[in-house]
Amino acid sequence: MSMPLGFDLIDVHCHILPGLDDGPSSMGESLEMVRMAAQDGIAKIVCTPHYIPGLYRPQQQSIKAACQELTRQILKHEIPMDIFPGAEIHIDAVSTEDFAPDGLTTINVTGSYALIELPYQIMPRHIEDVFWKLISQDITPILAHVERYPYLIHDPLPLNDWLHMGVGLQVTASSLFGLFGPEVMDFSRLLLDHQMVSILSTDGHGSSSRRPLMSAVGWWVQEHYGQRTAQDVLNRRGECILRGEAVDMPDFIPFQVKKTWTRKILDRLAGKHR
Ligand SMILES: [Fe+2]
Repeated sequence: MSMPLGFDLIDVHCHILPGLDDGPSSMGESLEMVRMAAQDGIAKIVCTPHYIPGLYRPQQQSIKAACQELTRQILKHEIPMDIFPGAEIHIDAVSTEDFAPDGLTTINVTGSYALIELPYQIMPRHIEDVFWKLISQDITPILAHVERYPYLIHDPLPLNDWLHMGVGLQVTASSLFGLFGPEVMDFSRLLLDHQMVSILSTDGHGSSSRRPLMSAVGWWVQEHYGQRTAQDVLNRRGECILRGEAVDMPDFIPFQVKKTWTRKILDRLAGKHR
């Protein structure tokens, strides 16, 4: 157990309900995750099972029922933890399905925030249409583990536009320490440098690997970016998101168009001929 940070940690992205997706397979493992998260200083967890067409389609009612059952167990075992329903929704599901009890689930069912996952291989062409569809319903999209999409690491320029639209960005805490490799680590830190990160979360999946922990990363963020930023990304904005209230974001530093070596040569040639 590490030293407490001076504020509660809020985790808005965690696969902690048993048997709904690739998270824990039993209630015993779920409880083990809750226990380790509580010891790490996490006080509130949003349960966000995957919702991916053709793979996992947990209905809002079954997510709520699973949360109630986990809460019963948490109370029985006297673990200090509050849990809330949610979902990690694949972007394809937003195009075809609705936020209804028999369908998609917003974070804490407030109707204000939806955790959205993109495919890893190719950036979907309809992504901005989907974002607008959500925003026009007063649902703010929060892009899950934004640092892990190779096409955004390669070209982060779309993030400027998405942030201007009001999209929130979630970074997975363990990415900052290199769990997903050096490229993802560097990009996650770059996103913090650019003041683009709305919130850090664990994206926990189990009790032995991808565990629901983030206090060590919290200390690191506090050391490198200050107490204010640490509390913003680990506590304050999480509280706002849980209540369905607006999140306060600083002005971000936009990404600039990267000049490739061919561009640089062409520019130089153009200069010479002028
Ligand atoms: Fe996830």
